Amino acid sequence: MRIFLIGYMGSGKSTLGPELAKALRLHFHDLDKIIEAEAWMSIKDIFRKQGEEAFRIKEREALQKFVAGHDDFVMATGGGTPCFFDNLELMNTCGTTVYLEVEALELFRRLQHQKAERPMISRLGDAALWNRIREHLLVRTAHYEQAALRWDGKRRDIGPLVEMIQTAGSTDASNPG
Ligand code: S3P
Repeated sequence: MRIFLIGYMGSGKSTLGPELAKALRLHFHDLDKIIEAEAWMSIKDIFRKQGEEAFRIKEREALQKFVAGHDDFVMATGGGTPCFFDNLELMNTCGTTVYLEVEALELFRRLQHQKAERPMISRLGDAALWNRIREHLLVRTAHYEQAALRWDGKRRDIGPLVEMIQTAGSTDASNPG
């Protein structure tokens, strides 16, 4: 079973991911960490030295390679992962995508204190951060909403999500068991 958590920066993918993996008895992986390990560079440095376009190519390659080599995992993807190339289609075809939905104001509150390691927002002041989140969401939500499942990113009781994923997995004709 391949589970992909998708959603905006700060939606809780890296926090919920390990809990979900534990409940489903799967390993947890973070796509950003995989990219960093393969590039021998932090995401921040990839953006700084090579630019966003190079990052998106690395992100695509890392996703494709990981999926080709692994069948069972929970993965936290980056906030932009489902919005570039056919990454979303790839994830929807080979696994179950879960959109962690969090409203703009709550994302703003969280990201105000978590900007440093995130090159897309690290240099923004509060007003610019708020505008960036709203602009990004206008575009990105259309992608996020194509996920197989949706989950309220503020909920902490993951029991119902575990059930939803198990049901989705057992009714998936492409998954023989
Ligand atoms: C990005 C989100 C980041 C990381 C990169 C770009 C984005 O991941 O992949 O900085 O485009 O939203 P998180 O969502 O884990 O912060």
